[in-house]
Amino acid sequence: MNPTPAPTTLVTNIGSLVTNTPGTGDCATPLGLLHDAAVVMAGGRFVWAGPAARAPEADERYDAGGRAAIPGFVDSHSHLVFAGDRTAEFNARMSGHAYRAGGIRTTVAATRAATDDELDANITRYLTEALRQGTTTFETKSGYGLTVEDEARALRIAARHTDETTYLGAHIVAPEYADDPAGYVDLVTGPMLDACAPHARWVDVFCEKGAFDGDQARAILTAGAARGLVPRVHANQLGHGPGVQLAVELNAASADHCTHLTDADVDALANGTTVATLLPGAEFSTRADWPDARRLLAAGATVALSTDCNPGSSFTSSMPFCIALAVRDMGMTPDEALWSATAGGAAALRRTDIGRISVGARADLALLDAPSHVHLAYRPGVPLVREVWRAGIRADF
Ligand code: NIG
Ligand code: FE
Repeated sequence: MNPTPAPTTLVTNIGSLVTNTPGTGDCATPLGLLHDAAVVMAGGRFVWAGPAARAPEADERYDAGGRAAIPGFVDSHSHLVFAGDRTAEFNARMSGHAYRAGGIRTTVAATRAATDDELDANITRYLTEALRQGTTTFETKSGYGLTVEDEARALRIAARHTDETTYLGAHIVAPEYADDPAGYVDLVTGPMLDACAPHARWVDVFCEKGAFDGDQARAILTAGAARGLVPRVHANQLGHGPGVQLAVELNAASADHCTHLTDADVDALANGTTVATLLPGAEFSTRADWPDARRLLAAGATVALSTDCNPGSSFTSSMPFCIALAVRDMGMTPDEALWSATAGGAAALRRTDIGRISVGARADLALLDAPSHVHLAYRPGVPLVREVWRAGIRADF
């Protein structure tokens, strides 16, 4: 007996559809823009995309009313397993205090004190927030536990919500090891890694003054890689440093922040396989200088955009907000920013099944209350996401 075929859903009358599939449609850019388009989803995948006039019949039909549709956003960098917030620290910054990595300790204390249920409720809250704003894939990290048990717990909770989990035991040196950073690196590369590796896909280090230097970062990333975790690096956020060069040398999936880059750093990113992930929410919330996306794009680097959602340096879950900042302040065109927030994020997660609309890709689609994706930057702060499908299922907001 043949298995019953999965029901099909047709979304039609899409005024403009970003496919991120070059060669599709009437536009030569990587966005592969189609007008008067339709898609068909079945079994959680796209099974057809093309002109609405040629769309096949389907079991269910949704009329997009001429609105724009885009692939669901891929947020390839967030820190969502935490408790509490840092309102006072933000307030102080907005009256002139500088951002420092040490503020992470406040969140570590609150996170350790929280129950599993509290942490799960918190991540669920921010994920729901993100989904409403069009995010259909997100990566998230440990890093607010900093003990063997608390880091493993964070990753177990994260893994209930996403496959893209990152071990960030090396966020800062745990307070208990303040006088013995080498001892903490031994813990991170030893028993903590043993406990965390089964729950993580990636390993990350905050390579920065006040956190971990180049040698420590190399030891941690190499130990993680030996356990099958692929490196990604918090690099060159607060100042120049070895993070970006190390990321490229170790073939990391992504170097994240990239705010302070030398010409050699830009060349390394342009010539390597490591994606430059820019996190404008962090510069916004720390009143820091913007990363120069134009310089990276001009050199030929692959650029991703993500939220860095965390209670210290970037408390936003909104990819549209990050797109608006990237366009206004980082030299990106609206097309480039949208690509970086979808296909760019997929590249930073080494995924080809998300961030684009083509047959076989996961059926992640965001419908905008706008005639064009350009409105994401043109109408900043306006909640334009009207409907979201994730793996073919329409979210119930
Ligand atoms: O990516 N830079 C390191 N980690 C976070 C900030 C974490 C915090 O301040 O709590 C970031 O910006
Ligand atoms: Fe971060």
